[in-house]
Amino acid sequence: MRPAEGDTSDCILVVGVSRPKLAAAFLLVALVSLFLTFHILYDSAVYSLDAAASVFDSSDELATNQLDPAPPRRLQPSSSSQQANNLKDLVPPPSLVSKAHFSRTNRHLPQAIIVGVRKCGTRALLEMLFLHPQIQKAAGEVHFFDRDDNYEKGLEWYRKKMPYSLKGQITIEKSPSYFVTPEVPERIRAMNASIKLLLIVREPVTRAISDYTQLRTRVSTTSTSSAVTTSSTSSLSSLARPPGGGGILTPTFAEEESQRGAASSRTFEELVLRPDGSINESYRPITISLYHNYMHRWLEVFSREQILVVNGDQLIEDPLPQLKRIEMFLGLEPRIGRHNFYFNHTKGFYCLRNDTADKCLRESKGRKHPRVNPLVVSKLRRFFNEHNQRFYELVGEDLGWPEE
Ligand SMILES: *[C@@H]1O[C@H](CO)[C@@H](O)[C@H](O)[C@H]1NC(C)=O
Ligand SMILES: *[C@@H]1O[C@H](CO)[C@@H](O)[C@H](O)[C@H]1NC(C)=O
Ligand SMILES: *[C@@H]1O[C@H](CO)[C@@H](O)[C@H](O)[C@H]1NC(C)=O
Ligand SMILES: *[C@@H]1O[C@H](CO)[C@@H](O)[C@H](O)[C@H]1NC(C)=O
Repeated sequence: MRPAEGDTSDCILVVGVSRPKLAAAFLLVALVSLFLTFHILYDSAVYSLDAAASVFDSSDELATNQLDPAPPRRLQPSSSSQQANNLKDLVPPPSLVSKAHFSRTNRHLPQAIIVGVRKCGTRALLEMLFLHPQIQKAAGEVHFFDRDDNYEKGLEWYRKKMPYSLKGQITIEKSPSYFVTPEVPERIRAMNASIKLLLIVREPVTRAISDYTQLRTRVSTTSTSSAVTTSSTSSLSSLARPPGGGGILTPTFAEEESQRGAASSRTFEELVLRPDGSINESYRPITISLYHNYMHRWLEVFSREQILVVNGDQLIEDPLPQLKRIEMFLGLEPRIGRHNFYFNHTKGFYCLRNDTADKCLRESKGRKHPRVNPLVVSKLRRFFNEHNQRFYELVGEDLGWPEE
């Protein structure tokens, strides 16, 4: 292409002949911009490779992550990988980001919330779901929607309580008192009207006894912090709150505390039965087990399809079928399998296993439930029967709880 070549050389020649210094400067600028262009192209290529690697890694088997729990440090960083490392430094230490330790993570508001019920296995459920590589869980209980002082801090405060997650991962938090707090459904809807809600329930009498047991244990172990679980710690810290107004459905913290005090010295039977032998529906462990009283409020705010009712008794006995339902509900591919569980015969329940660690849940399963008079259990079951039927009707599912 001679003519073209001639044209350009002519042009340069013309410029060069007339203003040699300007031409040299022009050439230098051209070279520098050419260099910069290539540098930027190279950097963005490295960037997208990194991003692709992180997405691939997150969707890969847990094993990939297990092998290097710490963020990979490059030994000889070039200028571009140095930049990538600088970005990594903005991400918190691996202990906070157990699964996602790559640079392009962020905190997101939860797309799913475990709203209750207390003593029905909310912690177990969250830990089991965390076995799924696409799930990130908030640490502890956030209590954003049920405590006015937290709610007033706003959604940005809430978001900052969430774990780092990758695009495509689902962030989940659990706060069991959401279920029984009247303001919560409307507040959650205001954040995300299409959020997915998980409600885990157990047979109401079993739950009430478990509730009684925990309230009693708390009284005797308040000084030994090691025995206090995350949930009880947060509840205990809330005792400093001044007592406010509360109806039958929402006893105040002060009321709860006085019940705790009573629970330390009185048996379950004494607390649950009135002197005339009828059931005391005002006793908190009984009140909370009347699920339908709370459920109808949730169904006034959310569609039934947004709420999954998880059978807590079955989750403890045989976790997989319930977890498969949840994976489907959350739109996740099935990744949790038999390999994630092993039965501990000493404890009598399943422990969790991912590729790095085994984990047996503490909670009340290690705690011995008191032997409750079988006549009282039967009486309670008959009492709950009618209430259970109402709950089944509301949710359109029969949970098959014993009628006596
Ligand atoms: C495996 O389980 C342990 C204990 O629960 C946890 O600390 C760790 O982050 C888990 N690993 C992954 C990759 O989820
Ligand atoms: C609301 O929740 C749905 C269901 O989890 C989720 O797909 C959607 O991204 C959420 N919206 C926002 C703004 O977080
Ligand atoms: C019922 O339980 C509530 C809360 O524990 C208690 O204050 C009340 O005295 C009990 N009523 C009777 C009749 O035992
Ligand atoms: C099973 O549970 C017992 C009692 O808590 C514990 O000592 C033991 O280490 C557990 N075994 C396994 C394999 O997790």
